[in-house]
Amino acid sequence: MCGIVSYLGNQNALPLLLDGLQRLEYRGYDSAGIFIQAGDKAHNGKVSGKVDDLRKHFETSLLKEAHVGLGHTRWATHGKPNQINAHPHESNDGSLVLVHNGIIENYESLKTILVEKGYRFKSETDSEVLINWIQEIKNSKQLTLGEAVHWALQTVVGAYGIVVFDKTQPDTLVTARLGSPLVIGVGEDEYFVASDATPFIQHTRNVIYLNDHEMAILQKNKPIEVQHLKSNTPIDPEIEKLHWNLEDIQKGGYDHFMLKEIFEQPQAIKNTLRGRVNLEQSKIDLSSMKRNEDRFIHATRIIILGCGTSWHAGLVGEYLIETLARIPVEVEYASEFRYRNPILYPTDIVIPISQSGETADTLAAVNIAKENGAFIYGICNVVGATIPRATDDGVYTHAGPEIGVASTKAFTSQVVVLIMMALKLARLKNALPNDQINELLLELNRLPENLETLLQHIEPIQHLAKTFDTATNCLYLGRGYNFPVALEGALKLKEISYIHAEGYPAAEMKHGPIALIDEEMPVIVIATKKGHYDKIVSNIQEIKSRKGRIIAIVSEGDETVKKLADHVIEIPISSEIFTPIYATLPLQLLSYYIAVNRNCNVDQPRNLAKSVTVE
Ligand code: AGP
Repeated sequence: MCGIVSYLGNQNALPLLLDGLQRLEYRGYDSAGIFIQAGDKAHNGKVSGKVDDLRKHFETSLLKEAHVGLGHTRWATHGKPNQINAHPHESNDGSLVLVHNGIIENYESLKTILVEKGYRFKSETDSEVLINWIQEIKNSKQLTLGEAVHWALQTVVGAYGIVVFDKTQPDTLVTARLGSPLVIGVGEDEYFVASDATPFIQHTRNVIYLNDHEMAILQKNKPIEVQHLKSNTPIDPEIEKLHWNLEDIQKGGYDHFMLKEIFEQPQAIKNTLRGRVNLEQSKIDLSSMKRNEDRFIHATRIIILGCGTSWHAGLVGEYLIETLARIPVEVEYASEFRYRNPILYPTDIVIPISQSGETADTLAAVNIAKENGAFIYGICNVVGATIPRATDDGVYTHAGPEIGVASTKAFTSQVVVLIMMALKLARLKNALPNDQINELLLELNRLPENLETLLQHIEPIQHLAKTFDTATNCLYLGRGYNFPVALEGALKLKEISYIHAEGYPAAEMKHGPIALIDEEMPVIVIATKKGHYDKIVSNIQEIKSRKGRIIAIVSEGDETVKKLADHVIEIPISSEIFTPIYATLPLQLLSYYIAVNRNCNVDQPRNLAKSVTVE
């Protein structure tokens, strides 16, 4: 997700836009840009870097005073984070300027049409295609800016929050949204348009929240025109009063970024899936896998590298790929792999997984693998980060910026990518019947809505967290796909509540850990119906007979475990491959509420950093 902010009024736009973008950096911060215009002078300044770099850039600008402008801080989805790809983007004839938050899925087909008409593109972005599409419609049909934006968006597929400016009509801004947030600040003879209200809250608390498929035309000294892009009907905008403060808005009203990001998981997974799962044709469209199809078909081994939560996602990937595609997988701690003088073959595919794309151990392991001639295919959340730049190819999770140190939405997005890859490999290797793949794709597509439902019933977890306040140790147990979930749940608890916790394969309990069980030791068991259910039930009975406190994550309606456990948390019944996503969510919330009850610094836990860029 990116941050956009635009201004039309009587104040100097430049400082408003710079300060506004600074407040939106939590939405993305790999590059930034501002366009301002005064009379026949204009300046479109863009930098690869943060808003501070943009501020420095404008210190030498000849244009110091302007009353209209558009600003953007980028979280790259198409095209590397660099100055060329930074917004605002201008149309070929130089008349139109746009800032965009979202993903235009059909940008390549629109670009083909435009190139055939003689358009040329400077950047790799979908956004530059969009502004030229608007120019083409405007000029070819002799339309006003508002009419042209309305027309152009009828043929756009994807998500957008946009602001468009015509240099020949400097008293007008046009904005529209579908799937990306936009809010209009209505001041005294001035308008703000931004991704949220943080950039303008100290100037006005009067806001209009644009809804999906709505477009607004803002003109100086004129009432706002809002219209519905589908029905073409005018809408009487409702002006609401803001009661938030600045910090609340950045956290979306949540107390912590971690909680916000837990609740963002349905949307994050929608973004991960966007344009990649075609249900009608039962296809998985991962262009980077397509480009390397031969390698994947002939791969004799896959080695997954990662650290921490990303290593746990890799472990889920092992179960997925070996079960569905029958390709041998090894999952390695990057920090061990890099020093072990690993044995690699040209038919190996090495898959580094990293949210930040900057983890030193993972990067070092990638370089070792490269030196040994392996093909490197990365899974990362930050476009253009160091690790993706070191790989031969890869796929982005598109989970959006993850600010909380404890990884949540990045993990579930990584698992979703691995599910798509495993299903794609299963099809390439003819390892799974098509009807089974189709069924799993339908279930994959229902993940976001099912997670939304799960997130509406969190009170039992909040209540359960209160019973953990004095715990000093905790055991997490799971089998099969739920073993990595046990590890991930234990890591979440450790890193934000400072309670010691260990994740184990449930069957391992008899080989030592069962000695730990007593009435003081909470034991969290992921006991979903699919997989080795009877075995896990007998593990629960063993714990119960030693007076262990049992908290079980169960499939909806499970009455058997309910009789044995002290507490149960229900998750949707699903195919086994999806339980890591459903089961991890309550464990994220449980860790979060325990940490809050213990007054820990949830977003910045002691001794930790969001990205471990040192060894
Ligand atoms: C997980 O909650 C931690 N923040 C940590 O284990 C993290 O997963 C690990 O440092 C790897 O980071 P990366 O995914 O950015 O490479």
